[in-house]
Amino acid sequence: MSEKPSKYYVTTPIYYVNDKPHIGHSYTTILADVLANYHRLLDVPTHFLTGTDEHGQKVQQAADANGITPQEQCDQTVIRFQELWKCLEIKNDDFIRTTEPRHKTVVQQTLQELFDRDEIYKAEYEGWYCVGCERFFTEKDVVEGNCPECGRKVDSIVESNYFFRMGKYQEWLIDYIETHPDFIQPAFRANETLGFLKTKELQDLCISRPKSRLAWGIELPFDAGFVTYVWFDALINYISAVGYKSDEEQFKKWWPCSTHLIGKDILTTHTVYWPTMLKAMNVAMPESIFAHGWWLTGRTKMSKSLGNVVDPMDMIDTYGVDAFRYFLIAEMTLGQDASFTEEAFVKRYNSDLANDLGNVTNRVLNMISRYCDDKMPAPASSADAGFDTVLEDGLWKEAIAIAGEMGSLIDNMKLDRSVAMVLSVVRKINVYLQERAPWALAKQEGTEVEVAHCLYTAAECLRVCAGLLYPVMPGKMHALRTALGMADAKPHLGKLSEFGVLIPGSKISQPGALFPRIEAKKTDETSSLVAKEQKPAKKKNQPAEIGNQKSTPGLITFDQVMNVNLKTAVVLEAEKIEGADKLLKLQVDLGDEQRQLVAGIALHYKPEELVGKTIVVVANLKPAKLRGVKSEGMLLAASIGDSLKLVTVEGNLGAGASVK
Ligand code: ME8
Ligand code: MG
Repeated sequence: MSEKPSKYYVTTPIYYVNDKPHIGHSYTTILADVLANYHRLLDVPTHFLTGTDEHGQKVQQAADANGITPQEQCDQTVIRFQELWKCLEIKNDDFIRTTEPRHKTVVQQTLQELFDRDEIYKAEYEGWYCVGCERFFTEKDVVEGNCPECGRKVDSIVESNYFFRMGKYQEWLIDYIETHPDFIQPAFRANETLGFLKTKELQDLCISRPKSRLAWGIELPFDAGFVTYVWFDALINYISAVGYKSDEEQFKKWWPCSTHLIGKDILTTHTVYWPTMLKAMNVAMPESIFAHGWWLTGRTKMSKSLGNVVDPMDMIDTYGVDAFRYFLIAEMTLGQDASFTEEAFVKRYNSDLANDLGNVTNRVLNMISRYCDDKMPAPASSADAGFDTVLEDGLWKEAIAIAGEMGSLIDNMKLDRSVAMVLSVVRKINVYLQERAPWALAKQEGTEVEVAHCLYTAAECLRVCAGLLYPVMPGKMHALRTALGMADAKPHLGKLSEFGVLIPGSKISQPGALFPRIEAKKTDETSSLVAKEQKPAKKKNQPAEIGNQKSTPGLITFDQVMNVNLKTAVVLEAEKIEGADKLLKLQVDLGDEQRQLVAGIALHYKPEELVGKTIVVVANLKPAKLRGVKSEGMLLAASIGDSLKLVTVEGNLGAGASVK
């Protein structure tokens, strides 16, 4: 590991509460979580902040569209973010909402102080405004009447406003960026900001909105006719949340921030507005601002306003949280854009997780079970090995080499590279097992020590891999560690490279298939996860093929049961199908979608008896046609002899509850 920092403070952007979160928001938050986890597992005091940006025109407009107050809009939408973070196993230390008093007070105090020091002044303003970006542009910036950032139409505006003297910091900022090469990352983003600073005159920043135009914001302490520009308000969250102007000790502990993670869409606000604001406030600069690329759908940015977003909740429901986190980290080279397709997801899942990691785990655990009586074997000490350990020594070296490189990969934000390296070790364990063939060895007389040493080494390498992947997939890697007989839940990343951590004689267990294979999608099927498209029935997880385990006829595994997605559904409509006296056609509400089912229950239920009932359906059944009528799922019913009764749910759970 590279040198440990004395503390680690990481932030995500605070997200607008105009709509629910999508994959883009999940990505930045997962990235921050992975980085926070790495540092925590290295015993570095860590603080991870995320939150929501609740003021401004976008939120006001969303509230208007929904017929609710802006505060209600915030209170309803913030839950969507908080729930998603819980489902994604995000372990943030704090969550700031800009409508909280602890934030508003600091924003007002800061404004007053800057106003008193003449860093803020009042003037008449004439210019162009983009509602989408919540930013002003000059005549020169505007491209044929459209916003230079997002391409939407801009509005002409003339009004009195308050301005922050940003322009006077232009030279200082250029110099700061040039003398602090790590300040804006990746380096090409620093060049982007510098390019702009060196070719255009930096204007003063309009930091107010007259209440007559927009009332939803933090009131200026020195003029009740105005509220604060949402970006000036929002950026301050990074310091208001850690005690700026309220808790000096806490502020000293965490500030300056180690990394502000952002998407490249908000580079200017973070690398021009924010540093100049801090400079005017006499507050130290953050250590680094890292801008990642965009998740694209096809070639366009995935964005709420474009309506081409993938719902992360759907991904978690279908494929599980760990696989989703893994995919996002493995697939995007930090700094570059990446394209999100379900096909790419399934491909990577099957190759990295099901085939490689899942398979090697099963092989190692099954063999320990078979040849070592479910107990962790003991390694041979090299002095008395009495056999050639060159393969084992080589494999172990590979594993600890990766562990040694991890720190610098993380420091350099090469997260995709770091997981790729771990996976390469996983593959090497598989190759090693193939070469060493412990199953053949075990058939020979007097090879117990050799077999034990082989399996112990493989298990130790697997332990290292599980430790290195733990920050990305805490749930599954915890399960893997437990299966290896490790009592403590979390790995200590600083101690991964010590050989002999697994305790000989400790009981191992079978975690089941960690990553059951997913049947690959046919290419002509469109993604079921992109919003706004007609959703076909969800792709199913096929029953797991479990490595070398012998299956018992008539019994299925826990994973096979879990692959059946049972959900409650409320019957909305029911009608007979002409020419088929046993079949009824039902329209059901599945919570997040409506489906049509065809069921052979016409002899037992009249259509009108069914409407309003809460039934149970298999939600991930491949769609089929019955008598030419499409059926997207199957309902459950109990039958004996001639009687048939639907499986229903008592009480009023409603549609879309999962049945387990
Ligand atoms: O900009 N790909 O909030 P926001 C990758 N409130 N990341 C994406 C993405 C995509 N397609 N779409 C969004 C705001 N993101 C302000 C921030 S901070 C003081 C105020 C992520 O809800 C990415 O991190 O529009 C991006 O910067 C952020 O969400 C924008 O979220
Ligand atoms: Mg945005």
